[in-house]
Order: sequence, then C-alpha cells, then structure tokens
Amino acid sequence: MNITEILPGIHYVGVNDRTTTRFEGLWSLPHGVSYNAYLVADEKVALIDTVEEAFGSRLFENIRETIGDRPIDYLVVNHMEPDHSSSIRALRLLYPDIRIVGNVKTLQMIQGFYGIDTGTLEVKEGDTISLGAKTLSFYMAPMVHWPETMVTWCAEAGTLFSGDAFGTFGAIDGGITDSQLDPSRYWDEMRRYYACIVGKYGGPVQKALAKVRGLNPTTICSTHGPVWQRQIPQVMDIYDRLSRYEGEPGVVLAYGSMYGNTEQMAERIARELASRGVGPIVMYNLSFADESVVLRDVFRYDTLIVGAPTYNGGIYPPAARLLDLIAARCVPQRNFGWFGSFCWAGAAVRGMGEFAQRMKWEPICDPVEMKQGFSSGCHNFCSRFADGIAERFRR
Ligand code: FEO
Repeated sequence: MNITEILPGIHYVGVNDRTTTRFEGLWSLPHGVSYNAYLVADEKVALIDTVEEAFGSRLFENIRETIGDRPIDYLVVNHMEPDHSSSIRALRLLYPDIRIVGNVKTLQMIQGFYGIDTGTLEVKEGDTISLGAKTLSFYMAPMVHWPETMVTWCAEAGTLFSGDAFGTFGAIDGGITDSQLDPSRYWDEMRRYYACIVGKYGGPVQKALAKVRGLNPTTICSTHGPVWQRQIPQVMDIYDRLSRYEGEPGVVLAYGSMYGNTEQMAERIARELASRGVGPIVMYNLSFADESVVLRDVFRYDTLIVGAPTYNGGIYPPAARLLDLIAARCVPQRNFGWFGSFCWAGAAVRGMGEFAQRMKWEPICDPVEMKQGFSSGCHNFCSRFADGIAERFRR
C-alpha cells in the first residue's frame, strides 16, 4: 500500500510547516501547522485543495509519488485563503489541462488572487461530479471561514473534505489519521485554532455542523491537523460547544500590571476564589502571555475576570487588546468581572464597564478599583469581589 493512502483511492498529499512562526502573521505556532491536501484517484483524478506556496514543491512531489505521470482532472478548491490556494498558479503550470472546480465566489477570488479565469468549472449546492466509482458532491459552508468556503463529500467513501472546519493547529507527526497518532495533544490546539481563526463565525459553523451531521461522515479530512475517524464524536462536540460559545465551568483571570500592584490584586482574588471552591482558574499576565492561548481559554471557560491599571487615561494596552480580540469575535456572553487600579485618575475600571455594556454582558459583581499601591488594606475588597464571583459560580 502506498503510504499516502488513507482509504482506498484517497490519499494524503499535504505537508507540515514547522518553520512559520505566526499563522496569518498573528497566531503563534509552537507545534507547527499542517496544510492538508488530498487526492482522490479513480478513473479520473481529483486534487482537493493545495498548500501554502512555499511548500508547493513538496505537494507536487507527493502527488507524483502517488499517481506518477497521470494527469489530474480536477482541482477542487474548498477554500481560497492562501494557506490552501497559493500553489494553484504553479499547479496550473504543471497540469495545464486541470479543471479548477469552485463556486461563483471561489472563481472570482481565483481570478482576483491568481489571474486565472479559464479552465474553471462552477458548482452550486448539491452539484456532483463523477470520477468513476466515486463521486464528489459540493455543499456551501460560507464563513467557515471565508464567504466562498464549501465542503466536498465523497458518499462512496463516507468521506468529507471539510476545509478549515474541524481543523487544528499542530503539525501531524508521522501519523495522518487519528488512530495513527495521539489525538489528545490536538484538543487544546483545536480550541486555539477555532478561537483565533473561526471564532467570529459561530452561527455559520452551526449551520455547517447541521449539514455535516446529515451526511454522517466516517472520515473527515480537514485542511489542518489529523484526519478524523475514531474521534469524530469528540471533534464534533468541541466544534459544537465552541460555536455555541458555550463555556465550561472555569475562570480565566487575565490581568495587566506595570509595577506589580494590580498583579497582587489578581493573585489575591485568585486565592480568594480558589479558597471558595471556584475552579479551575487559569491566570495570565497579559504583558507576557500568548494572546492566542488566552483567547483559547476565553472560548473554553464560562467566566472571565480582567484586571488592568489605568494607562494614558484608558485601559492598560495589553488588557485593552484582549478585550478588542474578544469583541471582534462577537462572543455573546461570559460571566464577566473586572477590577483595576489608578494613580491619580481612574479610567480602566470605567473602560471595562463600557466594554461589558457594548458586549451586552451582564456583570456578575461590582468591580473593584484600587488607588495606588497594594497593601493589606486591599484584602477586604478583594474578598468581597471574590464573594460576588463565587456566588454566581455556584448557581
Ligand atoms: Fe486554513 Fe482559512 O485557511
């Protein structure tokens, strides 16, 4: 058996990227990332998606290893973000007769990004192309993660080529399917990927999940991370929870601090919470934390506490940045508490209150605000603040 084959006639021809440090120039990649592409080799051959162009030559070698000199009849473009599409131009030079398959929005983007407007085949919801014994059907999944996104279904193999949906950060270490590797190391990377990349689009993801459930796939081939077979229920559950913005019980306590006073408040509040049985609690100093990890846990847990000093008449920038990231993802609800500090004129606590109003988040307790330095005199209001959080947490 060819080592690229994951199911009869279906091959993995993607690549690992262990050198890019920031996905989209934004999000850290401590464990790398994979750009997955698949070949369905039947009487006709279809390639599903490509890879980031810096890795194009590896994709082409993988294809050649799999099908030798056979031509590729179709390139199916499920998603146009360049981590999957930027090898299209080079692919077209190698396979000039390839038909590029996409929906109307895909084809507009291919023209816009790569100047290609010939040799294309437009498909609509439910359209099918036959490869011989296998067929490919196309279902639109707009905003998972761009407006042109679609998924491709091979009914004969029970296999869904899902684009970014069900993807994770993290390169795949030798194994391709989830039975060939340890899936547990991907769950946190899946949440981080979701929060950073797809987090704004909970509604569209829910619609896509409904379509996927109707298909009942036994293999899910995403564009990032392992191919899912045994773990499909767990994968669907994670995506379902995240896209419903349904946090599990737990507290993210994220704070900024210039000289340690607000940090001491944070430490005190965390200890007070833990002593009341509130947990798990995860704390982040926002000047040093990886924002993608903080965002991941904001999606994971149902309670968020933010602490910040006043800075230039506003919220200390690392804390303001976190709030901006959350607002951009339209997170509809979190149990939210906040505290802060100031030297001569308070603004951070007021600013975080305005954030809560904009988000239409109901505060879970009154905020607390400290003037100048932390001392034992602050213990009482930290304790009252923790009482308010703990009260909500017990409900
Ligand atoms: Fe992996 Fe939205 O691209």
